Amino acid sequence: MLPEKIVDKFEHETDKKLDTQSKHKIFDGFKNNKTINEVLDKTTIMTLHDLINKHIISYVNGVVRSGKESQLFWAVDKNGKDIALKIYLVSTSSFKKRASYILGDPRFSKIRKGTRNLVYLWAKKEFRNLIQCVERAIPSTKPIYVTKNILVMEFVGKNGVPEKTLVEAEVSQKDYESTISLIKRLYKEAKLVHGDLSEFNIFKTENGLMLFDLASGVDIHHPNAHEFLKRDINNISKFFVKRGLTVANPADIFELVTK
Ligand SMILES: Nc1ncnc2c1ncn2[C@@H]1O[C@H](COP(=O)(O)OP(=O)(O)OP(=O)(O)O)[C@@H](O)[C@H]1O
Ligand SMILES: [Mg+2]
Repeated sequence: MLPEKIVDKFEHETDKKLDTQSKHKIFDGFKNNKTINEVLDKTTIMTLHDLINKHIISYVNGVVRSGKESQLFWAVDKNGKDIALKIYLVSTSSFKKRASYILGDPRFSKIRKGTRNLVYLWAKKEFRNLIQCVERAIPSTKPIYVTKNILVMEFVGKNGVPEKTLVEAEVSQKDYESTISLIKRLYKEAKLVHGDLSEFNIFKTENGLMLFDLASGVDIHHPNAHEFLKRDINNISKFFVKRGLTVANPADIFELVTK
């Protein structure tokens, strides 16, 4: 079965299960879908529970990073392997900003109304972008599963500590060249533009650079794909210049990537 079909099937099963559960009214201490610690709402907790029931994870160790729009959790699977859970927050989601990265992408022609649905679609979009990278062997965080607002990935790092990103690491001329090569491969092979590329969204591992945070990634046919690509190239160029390295003219890189 294709990964997307698998996802749809699992999502359908989860939805069905949650629907049946809500019909039986569970008294679990949650009131009117209130959020816990201002972050996880009842549906998210139930989705986590469902991931455990489906044996995708065994347990959750805790929060690794808290962002404005997502939180990263460290979980463990049944084989003791570390897993990263990226949980998109429904409460702080900015609908407008996200819609512009979805509308116009030929892969996502239909958007169901409502912030919650858009957040689910956003998680699915990151999953799908990561799959497209994996299919082309482009170094990126390996996706495992997606359901509602939770994206399950391999954990990049050790003992719950993520690998260093470019901004946290020493960088060299070779890293600049590798970054440009990744942008090019993403465009030419995965047919994607990252859309939020910067020194904060690239891991520097002992096996080389690795892309992550691909939720903003768009198909190269998205009407703004080239604008996003220019911005990505500019961000990267500025970062390496700040670190005292020599970079090519961003316009030439744009030509190189798109020609
Ligand atoms: N698969 C992973 N394994 C380990 N750590 C990860 C993984 N994915 C993300 N992280 C960590 O979580 C942080 C946030 O992840 P990401 O950049 O995907 O989310 P974000 O929505 O951009 O968050 P923010 O609002 O903080 O920018 C990263 O900087 C990284 O340290
Ligand atoms: Mg990020």
